[in-house]
Amino acid sequence: MSTALVTGASAGIGREFATQLAAKGEDLVLVARDVARLEALAVELTAAHGVAVEVLPADLADREQLERVAERLRDPSRAIDLLVNNAGFSVNSRFVDGDVAAEERMLDVLVRAVLVLSHAASTAMVSRGRGRIINVSSVAGLLASGTYAAAKSYVTTFSESLAGQLSGTGVAVTALLPGYVRTEFHERAGIDKGDRSGPFWLEASDLVRTALAAAESGKVICVPSLQYRAVVGVVRHLPRAMLRSSRVSALHRKP
Ligand SMILES: NC(=O)c1ccc[n+]([C@@H]2O[C@H](COP(=O)([O-])OP(=O)(O)OC[C@H]3O[C@@H](n4cnc5c(N)ncnc54)[C@H](OP(=O)(O)O)[C@@H]3O)[C@@H](O)[C@H]2O)c1
Repeated sequence: MSTALVTGASAGIGREFATQLAAKGEDLVLVARDVARLEALAVELTAAHGVAVEVLPADLADREQLERVAERLRDPSRAIDLLVNNAGFSVNSRFVDGDVAAEERMLDVLVRAVLVLSHAASTAMVSRGRGRIINVSSVAGLLASGTYAAAKSYVTTFSESLAGQLSGTGVAVTALLPGYVRTEFHERAGIDKGDRSGPFWLEASDLVRTALAAAESGKVICVPSLQYRAVVGVVRHLPRAMLRSSRVSALHRKP
């Protein structure tokens, strides 16, 4: 029996990770701020799959609360075999004249939490000679499209670097780069994305199935869906100057 810790497990992609992992028989540690939603999910998954589910409430923008999650990852008596760094949100405002405190909270959750939790998990996993980390990034990280994109760019590059450093240790790292996914993400950020239909909108269930298979096979970068693999293929070959142009950067503005 192995155990996975999922951040941002109360909704969207994180909730789907928790659900699919429970269906595979994995015990879980669920992290997010909304305790009621986490507890309801824990009851549901234990009843459906007979797995042990621990609720660990934390605001990952808060250093002390983040440290509690890191301590759980380091606990040698209760090993975590898979860390999913998934929690995140976007700030829907222009940088100039925007709320810099909100920008810092976003950076804390998207970047600092991923850094601190990956450090705690990888150190513990290397000492055991096995483990997996999935960092939820975004195709937005390939664009020059605001602070959210910059943070996701960090997550992708950081994951690739860590995967390289951990080569041969038995610990694998996968960066997951979704495009648009039907979750609470846009609504929470106050971003109107219309009826969210069409080929560029993904289901969290398909995305997570692909991500878990990619992590299982040791893939470092996972871009789910043919549509987005095509987009990424094109974007990677565009001149950076073109990515900075307002028309291209607006393609994925927020997120
Ligand atoms: N949806 C998309 O189109 C899309 C595309 C590319 C990448 N992503 C990335 O996918 C990840 C998951 O997003 P989603 O689409 O599933 O969004 P979502 O449905 O809004 O869920 C976000 C999750 O993050 C948690 N969270 C937010 N702030 C937190 C904090 N300060 N501390 C702890 N947990 C926090 C939320 O839980 P609580 O509110 O309970 O704390 C929630 O469980 C994010 O990293 C996002 O950037 C999403």
